[in-house]
Amino acid sequence: MPDPAASSPIRIQRVGTVAIVTIDNPPVNALSQAVRRELLAAFETFAADARMTGIVVAGAGRDFVAGADIREMDLPLLDPGLPEVILAMEACPHPIVAAINGNALGGGLELALACDRRLAAPDATVGLPEVKLGIIPGAGGTQRLPRLVGVAEAIGLIAAGRRLRAPEAAALGVVDRVVEGDLVEAAKKEAAEGSKRRLSALSAPADDAAQIDKAVAEASRAARGVPAVGKAVEMVRLAATIPFSDALRIERETFLALRDSPEAKALRHLFFAERNAQKVPGIAGVRPRPLARAAVIGAGTMGSGIAVALADAGLPVAVVERDTAAVAQGRERVRAIYDRVVAGGRLASGAAEERFARISFGDDWSALAGADLVIEAVFEEMNIKLETFRHLDAIAKPGAVLATNTSYLDVDRIAAATRRPQDVVGLHFFSPANVMRLLEIVRGKATAPDVVATGFALARRIGKVAVVAGVCEGFIGNRIYSTYRRQMEYLVEDGAWPEDVDRAIEAYGFAMGPFAVSDLSGLDIGWATRKRRAASRDPRERYVAIADRLCEQGRFGRKTGRGWYRYPEGAKKPVPDPEVRALIEAETARRGIARRAVTADEIQRRALAAMINEAAKILAEGIAQRASDIDLVLANGYGFPGIRGGPLFAADARGLGSVLADVEAMHAVSGFGSEPAPLLVELAGTGSSFAKWDAGRAQ
Ligand code: 3HC
Ligand code: NAI
Repeated sequence: MPDPAASSPIRIQRVGTVAIVTIDNPPVNALSQAVRRELLAAFETFAADARMTGIVVAGAGRDFVAGADIREMDLPLLDPGLPEVILAMEACPHPIVAAINGNALGGGLELALACDRRLAAPDATVGLPEVKLGIIPGAGGTQRLPRLVGVAEAIGLIAAGRRLRAPEAAALGVVDRVVEGDLVEAAKKEAAEGSKRRLSALSAPADDAAQIDKAVAEASRAARGVPAVGKAVEMVRLAATIPFSDALRIERETFLALRDSPEAKALRHLFFAERNAQKVPGIAGVRPRPLARAAVIGAGTMGSGIAVALADAGLPVAVVERDTAAVAQGRERVRAIYDRVVAGGRLASGAAEERFARISFGDDWSALAGADLVIEAVFEEMNIKLETFRHLDAIAKPGAVLATNTSYLDVDRIAAATRRPQDVVGLHFFSPANVMRLLEIVRGKATAPDVVATGFALARRIGKVAVVAGVCEGFIGNRIYSTYRRQMEYLVEDGAWPEDVDRAIEAYGFAMGPFAVSDLSGLDIGWATRKRRAASRDPRERYVAIADRLCEQGRFGRKTGRGWYRYPEGAKKPVPDPEVRALIEAETARRGIARRAVTADEIQRRALAAMINEAAKILAEGIAQRASDIDLVLANGYGFPGIRGGPLFAADARGLGSVLADVEAMHAVSGFGSEPAPLLVELAGTGSSFAKWDAGRAQ
């Protein structure tokens, strides 16, 4: 007979007249149905026990409670809901104290807010991050938090889904105090001696209207099309205007409606995609190599940002450049990054100084000798990369991880320039490297498993989302992005203006359209690459020469004030340029194409068709391990809207039959290189989906 207590996700221990309830539901104590059911039963029993004087709620392991069980959110609601548990806690006559040992997030914090006191360990984290999952707090969070911190502060915290460390949470009043030492012991004492203090009985402190307006404005600026943000703001405002129980009812209804929304489903998909991406065959259980000192070669756009990302995580970084002039420029670039962060109020100047001091600069390569990890970020030229790695091989210590930040080049060829290809890996950061969350870990033929594991350990340490990619031109992200951008150029040649394309792509939810992005990153680099590859380009490929014509006129984008758009002094946004229109019309005519009207719908469908088709090829080739990895790359590195879950999630949502029809239409006008991917044809033909393909491979 199984012992029911052994499988119960909560443990109850009586110490005198106090009960200690420990939630033990690994890995993160999520509030699954079983946890809710057992908590409800426990609090109903406690309420009827007149001998008791108090209750402590604690979490087993590293977390207090990480929130609702996100895996249950795709299922019909299972009773009892969290609000029922919370009602029972408030109805219980004995004081309840939360002992917050680790993460108290979402429903976990709501559970703590239903307690009469909250004590936290110094390294505990609390927050209501629901909007990141496209939902709002659904068990009183939007009503109880403002009663502690005020409406304006609560809007800021909930709309941004911000997580607070214990000291800040205590300063704001979210937790009563931080306890050094035995947390449960302190909570027990407080429970035995304390009294009831239900937040529902308080009113929210009065904030002035200007503070609230400011918080609302900030929230809507950062909303990025996530409907939950506006709803969260609305709910928090109710805390100051209508009775608690009415607001609670509205909050719950809103939560339930959002839970089933396509945006929330998409964001949940990305949440699990992020966790799944770390599961790489051959890596499970492999220990990463030690990582105490890092180095960066080349302190240009990328190297400077990478050095900052490493120093921000506490690593000492040696930066080497070509010569003293380049060293000085590199140092200035890094300085400028920190100056911007401080000016933006995101870091105190003292902390910035401390981080800056972790980075040393020089042109003497012997500085690389002590590094456990060296990241190369020199010019994107194979010969320079090969030379750099030969030199590095002679200097780096045995076992050091040697990484290249190349965007497109063959990592296997670079590895072969050394006598230790097993130590070589691609670590592809995105610009700006200290800000963008994505890191592609490019696994070469010879890359050792513990080197890949070190890539993941590094990503975790510097707060990045890591995805493994195989070697091909452009890996996952740049290969898909290039294919998509080329399609957008075809549309411009066929009849759309660059601003039509950008508008349609932005309407789909991207932060920027492809032409505005090109102007921002500079057209000259792509031009140089195209010239270099001109001889090897397949003559069957449709080639649009508009970007070359722009570059011939010195239109390199924002930095020259002109590119696909004009950038007059003081203009905040790109301005469409009649000269560019004339140039496009001339190119279209030269190619014998009759310009036609192109709708926003066609632009969006074509963009998706291009991305999905290339993604299916990448999957079939094994460059990406799973469809959800591709979604993660596009959403975290290329501005694909999170509320659409990535191109392959969007493909499944539309239906692969319809996507295939778009791909075939695209192929008809694009020809060579845009052939429908056999995997897409197969999945569409069998009524399957990318999600099913992933699930099949996971078994
Ligand atoms: N529900 C279900 N599973 C969860 C979960 C949750 N809330 N949180 C984490 N997990 C799972 C992960 O999927 C992962 O599973 P796997 O090992 O099978 O891949 C495992 O727990 C470990 O997660 P991480 O790899 O993320 O572990 P970390 O130690 O890096 O991080 C964490 C722990 C900080 C708790 C992080 O997992 C996290 O941020 N979780 C989500 C927190 C959250 O968003 N909570 C709000 C939920 S919505 C809600 O509460 C609604 C309420 O208002 C009603
Ligand atoms: P960059 O031109 O801004 O910087 C390159 C730096 O390398 C310069 O400071 C140069 O002085 C230095 N350098 C060149 N040869 C050197 C050598 N032999 N030894 C030491 N230093 C040397 O270039 P950027 O944009 O930073 O690109 C660097 C690498 O990162 C390239 O491989 C690029 O493809 C890749 N990359 C670029 C991204 C971007 O958005 N700019 C994004 C992701 C990757």
